[in-house]
Amino acid sequence: MAELFDTHCHLSDLDFDQDRDAVLERMHSNGVTRCAVIGYDVASSKQALLFAERTPGVFCAVGIHPEHADTATPETLSELQKMASNSAVRAIGEIGIDLHWESNPSLEIQQNACVQQLEMASILSLPVCFHVRDAQMEMLRLLKEHKRILTGGIMHCFSGSWEVAKEYLKLGFYISFAGPVTFKKAPKLQEAARNVPLDRLLIETDSPYMAPEPVRGRRNEPGNVRYVCEKIAELRGMTYEELAERTTGNACRLFRV
Ligand code: NI
Repeated sequence: MAELFDTHCHLSDLDFDQDRDAVLERMHSNGVTRCAVIGYDVASSKQALLFAERTPGVFCAVGIHPEHADTATPETLSELQKMASNSAVRAIGEIGIDLHWESNPSLEIQQNACVQQLEMASILSLPVCFHVRDAQMEMLRLLKEHKRILTGGIMHCFSGSWEVAKEYLKLGFYISFAGPVTFKKAPKLQEAARNVPLDRLLIETDSPYMAPEPVRGRRNEPGNVRYVCEKIAELRGMTYEELAERTTGNACRLFRV
């Protein structure tokens, strides 16, 4: 069976406390042999690391999400940096800019937290997992201004157009697609998924969020990344096995697995 790599999930979250072992079993029975569990603040980063350390095939990222950017202090950042020296940590993230909710920290606070974590990634030579929502231009501007310290990484749950994807590709990033690419009314996203070069394409669930068709609306889980693989293979006129092999190869290269 073709092996899949879910490059972004939150399997150590409370949502999975009741049945995490069953979720892992379904993940494996769907051919998903590896996944990356992504932190979004200090506590979730710790959980992700503990889980990755004791679970074969599970890797993790530590970082502070833009929604929690106001918690990025010298103390929390140094705590993250300490965690990141563990070999289960393969990336810094998720970090970025999110201007979707008015209640989010100000753009300036988000930019500062993002730049400080980019610097950390650069010191540690780790790739970065980016979360960008309603802020593609702001994110591109920040990345272009800090080109010197970029270490590569993933535009997670990509939600932009092919035009925007091309800009991120020029900066050396991978583009990762989640459930929304399977939705019926997603022509722009599907255009991007058709065009991203095969050596820069990744797939993910972002579970428990973003469940793909045909399980849309339910709690998502890593095993469902196969639906994302199926859809993109169909969009590109490739077989499921070919797309699985290419995206898993890319993920292994990026996370140094
Ligand atoms: Ni996430």
